[in-house]
Amino acid sequence: MISTIDLAVLLLCIIFVWLAIRKAYHATRGPLSAFPGPRLCAWTDLPQGYWKVTGREHEIMADIHSKYGPVVRIGPRHLSYIGTATIWPEIYGERVGYINCLPKDKRLYDLIEDCFGWKDSLAAAPDDHKVIRKLVVSSFSPRMNKHFEPRYKGWMKKMVDKLVRKAEQAEVLDLGKAFQCVAVDLQTDLVLSVDAESLKTLDYPPTKVVVNGSLQGVAVAHALRLFSPSVGRAVQKTIVNIPHVRKLLDNFAITLSNRIDARLANPPPENDVLTEVLRKSELSPVPIPRDQFYSTTKILTVAGPEAMTSAMNTIGYHLFQEPGTFKTLVNQIRTRFQKQDDLSVEALSEMDLLTAVIKEGHRLYPLPPGILPRCTPKEGAWIQGVWIPPNNSLGVHQWATYRSETNFLDANGYHPERWMGDPKFQNDRLDCVQIFSVGARRCPAEIFSWYVIRLVFASLLINFDIELAEEASEWPQQKSYWIWRTRPLMCKIRLAKNTGAN
Ligand code: HEM
Repeated sequence: MISTIDLAVLLLCIIFVWLAIRKAYHATRGPLSAFPGPRLCAWTDLPQGYWKVTGREHEIMADIHSKYGPVVRIGPRHLSYIGTATIWPEIYGERVGYINCLPKDKRLYDLIEDCFGWKDSLAAAPDDHKVIRKLVVSSFSPRMNKHFEPRYKGWMKKMVDKLVRKAEQAEVLDLGKAFQCVAVDLQTDLVLSVDAESLKTLDYPPTKVVVNGSLQGVAVAHALRLFSPSVGRAVQKTIVNIPHVRKLLDNFAITLSNRIDARLANPPPENDVLTEVLRKSELSPVPIPRDQFYSTTKILTVAGPEAMTSAMNTIGYHLFQEPGTFKTLVNQIRTRFQKQDDLSVEALSEMDLLTAVIKEGHRLYPLPPGILPRCTPKEGAWIQGVWIPPNNSLGVHQWATYRSETNFLDANGYHPERWMGDPKFQNDRLDCVQIFSVGARRCPAEIFSWYVIRLVFASLLINFDIELAEEASEWPQQKSYWIWRTRPLMCKIRLAKNTGAN
């Protein structure tokens, strides 16, 4: 006679064996089993989770792609692709109509929102939240950027004035701080007409401390969510409710909300981005939920500057470590423009070397370095002629794509000339670089970013002679936790002796 305990044990054994067989089938015979990859990855998300937590995922993934090829299975339900001109639109582009883009993988996007309290922001919202996207896109249109250009130039002058004092004292300084401060001050002013006053101290603003301090925690939570979204969420909740962390995050959220409330209560004399968004939303037949309006405004004033800073850091580091390119670009800018006031975005956009320097900097340290993960919907999806079943996560790995020798000659080297038609690089696949992504969810602020980055570098080069300091030698060893944890960009700056004005 079998006891109840024996029966329960037997039942558990059967369930266990059934789960093991199912797992084994999925790993070795399932629909993704045809894709190559490290064997363990077909069975478990453990390796992937571990790579994320080390902060070295970008390098590991580049090695894995060079060993296994352009499409790799990196988890039981995860595929990573090397980007090509066709694969980007296949994964990120509109399918039949706007709503049919592959949806963003919530295991990543929800966790970033939960961490910073940006509930339902544009960046994480599903595709059908297209109303707010339309408003944001039109506020960053070429016409609006032209309209805002004097405002951008005003912030450039403030940055230069601040740096002139440092240059006079021949200080070694972290130029990354100048990038961060000008990005934060300019964008807070542009969106909310508020002076965030970061340039006043030329130090990292409190938001940076919160973002930097949270990055590794976000990576741990992401790794856990790969195993079980509910366990990951529970651990994340526990971490964010530790009193010290809670206080930091609450202060962060309150400061941002207060800024938005103050702006809404006192409309500024001159139009800003919010004026545009509010004006157009009044005309919109679909109202924007309040939560989404607030969280998207926060994204624009926090995530936007973070992205810009990260981009300017890589562009600056690579330019300053290459004296030949630096000298040529300085000469071009100082010959073309006599003084700071002469800079214009239109004229700068015609300077091929400046454009190439920006593109090559983006390529070498893209943001994010990893994957923008998308999920296959309930109908599954065809990618490169292969049917991928529902509920699998996939995307282009930017770092692995841009560091692949199959895409670029001397992929790890810095060669702005590859963007300027140099025949040596004629086989480079430049169109695999999609730093702002593609499709309906591509970055709405691409034109704005080009405007500002061109102005920042032209302002620096016309006014200062810049050299990397010894301390900058460790800059390339930065870790990535979805976004970069940037290292200081220590530079020696001096007032320019040789401007076109002299
Ligand atoms: C060089 C700087 C920047 C880079 C490289 C960059 C890159 C990107 C990328 C790759 C995406 C797609 C994200 C995804 O699919 O998950 C994105 C989306 C987005 N970016 Fe940027 N970005 C930059 C600057 C900015 C700035 C300055 C702002 C705000 C003023 C901004 C606002 C946004 C928003 C709101 C989205 C979400 C769009 C959507 O999901 O519909 N970005 N960005």
